[in-house]
Amino acid sequence: MSWNPFGGGHRRAVAEVPAGAGLSSYALLEEVPLMALVLDPRMLVLKANRAARDFFEIAPEQLPDSLIILTRELRVEAAIRHGGDLHAEIRLVHRPATLEVTVVPGLQAGEVVAFLADLTELRRLQTVRQEFVANLSHELRTPITSLRLAAESLGGELTEAARKRFAGRALKEADHLAAIVDNLRQLAEIEAGKRALRRSRFDLAELVVEVGRRIAVEREVKVEVDPGLLLHADREKVAQALANLVDNAAKFSPAGEVVEVRGQLLDGEYVVSVRDHGPGISPEHWDRIFERFYKVDPSRSREMPGSGLGLAITKHLVLLMGGRVWTSAAEGGGQVFALALPAEP
Ligand SMILES: Nc1ncnc2c1ncn2[C@@H]1O[C@H](COP(=O)(O)OP(=O)(O)OP(=O)(O)O)[C@@H](O)[C@H]1O
Ligand SMILES: [Mg+2]
Repeated sequence: MSWNPFGGGHRRAVAEVPAGAGLSSYALLEEVPLMALVLDPRMLVLKANRAARDFFEIAPEQLPDSLIILTRELRVEAAIRHGGDLHAEIRLVHRPATLEVTVVPGLQAGEVVAFLADLTELRRLQTVRQEFVANLSHELRTPITSLRLAAESLGGELTEAARKRFAGRALKEADHLAAIVDNLRQLAEIEAGKRALRRSRFDLAELVVEVGRRIAVEREVKVEVDPGLLLHADREKVAQALANLVDNAAKFSPAGEVVEVRGQLLDGEYVVSVRDHGPGISPEHWDRIFERFYKVDPSRSREMPGSGLGLAITKHLVLLMGGRVWTSAAEGGGQVFALALPAEP
């Protein structure tokens, strides 16, 4: 498979081209959706197509110039020099990118054309998928183990009370598994764009009270909404996004502590924030907390049931409605989770 781009082994490509056709014959590379660089044996870039100029920020009048000067990426040069390894994959140093480099003989003797494909997004998605599968397997293992234990125990000689206890545990774990699957389905539907927006005009304060009632936890939910704040949005989706936040606020703060929900119109956005009086979350987690399966303290997951999907669902619902979500420390302790939705122009 190996060939030397600068040796005499590429006559085949040169043969079909009339003498003097030169650079103009590379014109058809201009709009190719891959980066293409035409280089001479000294690694001088003679031509860079639009995709390559955009990526490396090269102005047409800079050409010809040395590859290193134009790209500042030694690995690109090395990969092109060793063009024998077809489809070399390299990580750039000055840009967060992974490129696949393919080198083919050019039209003139000694020239080569390097095609660079940007694989960054593809590789990122592959990593996301692998992590997702790893997290999901991890998340499913615990309830499945408990379920198995309960089933085993139920098969033995048991007192009536113990039988009830194990049956109760099996039910609880089955519900937990069902919740994980249901949350995953919801996320997939939101992401696939299968959830259409159904806008209506509704009273935010009423909605918050309803959400507070829906959360089946003994907890006082204090509601403070700007008077007469009417939202024009998808009521069911706002309710669901908010329910996850109120549920967390209740779940992760000590019993008896009040949960406060505030609704305001701020700079053209409806901002709804949920504040608890719990231990709060240290800032290094704030960016990742909305990722699926992310838990601040996984070792506590036995006592704090949950799939780690609630915030991911909230985030995706809010993004679908053109808004944003974030979290911050509450003044005087506790955590605030907020969502903002664009108000009508
Ligand atoms: N108000 C809060 N205070 C402290 N930690 C929180 C709070 N809200 C969320 N967290 C942390 O963020 C993690 C992710 O929350 P998320 O709602 O996505 O999942 P969950 O509540 O564990 O499970 P689910 O919502 O799927 O039942 C939680 O496990 C918890 O560690
Ligand atoms: Mg939650």
